[in-house]
Amino acid sequence: MRCNCCEITDNTFGEDSARADVRRYRRRGPAEQTKLILRAIRSLNFRDAELLDIGGGIGAIHQELLEDVVDKATHVDASSAYLKEAKAEAVRRGHDGRVRFIHADFTDVAADLPKADIVTLDRVVCCYPDFRSLLKAAADRSRSALALTYPRETWYLRIGLRIGNFFQRLRRDPFRVFLHPVAEMDALLKREGFEQVSLRRLFVWEMALYKRTAV
Ligand SMILES: C[S@@+](CC[C@H](N)C(=O)[O-])C[C@H]1O[C@@H](n2cnc3c(N)ncnc32)[C@H](O)[C@@H]1O
Repeated sequence: MRCNCCEITDNTFGEDSARADVRRYRRRGPAEQTKLILRAIRSLNFRDAELLDIGGGIGAIHQELLEDVVDKATHVDASSAYLKEAKAEAVRRGHDGRVRFIHADFTDVAADLPKADIVTLDRVVCCYPDFRSLLKAAADRSRSALALTYPRETWYLRIGLRIGNFFQRLRRDPFRVFLHPVAEMDALLKREGFEQVSLRRLFVWEMALYKRTAV
């Protein structure tokens, strides 16, 4: 399935929302679903690990994990505005020398990226129509762990997202939020050699942590 991802996400995840997200992060720290990822990764007791954060937004995951767990990070994002804020925040925290920032649709550049110990996708699969290509490429770049959050398959989110996407269509905005089938995402990651080791739920978001069992 084709997706002119960078153009669409550059419009949706623009400068105003990036700046608002950074302000919120500085005031309150990581969002609740991001905290689930951070806790899950920390439970694996990595040290000096390499992180690949796909669609990291303002970079909350690498800003946090570079404090203790991670030595080097790569942040690939389709939004230039979010990358700009993530870079500025990394400079502010003295992490900028340890993060590589790449503006791209991850599926276009994945094959050229080095593998990482940890791969994260926090609220990213739901922004992308072709979750199979995205997750397959993400799994392929992970040597050890993969953590992701996505909207839960509940009746209230089905209705809410359908309404939200209806208004997007009325506005002629091509960005959509996708409620991808959780069982299919899970089956794909298992086929790629991972097992699920943790699953946590909030009202909207679910976080799943996978560990590689086969190369
Ligand atoms: C809802 S935001 C989440 C940002 C951050 N992970 C968070 O939870 O705050 C989705 C992010 O994923 C990025 N994104 C979506 N699809 C992508 C893709 N195929 N490749 C790279 N980035 C992508 C968007 O640019 C945006 O920064």
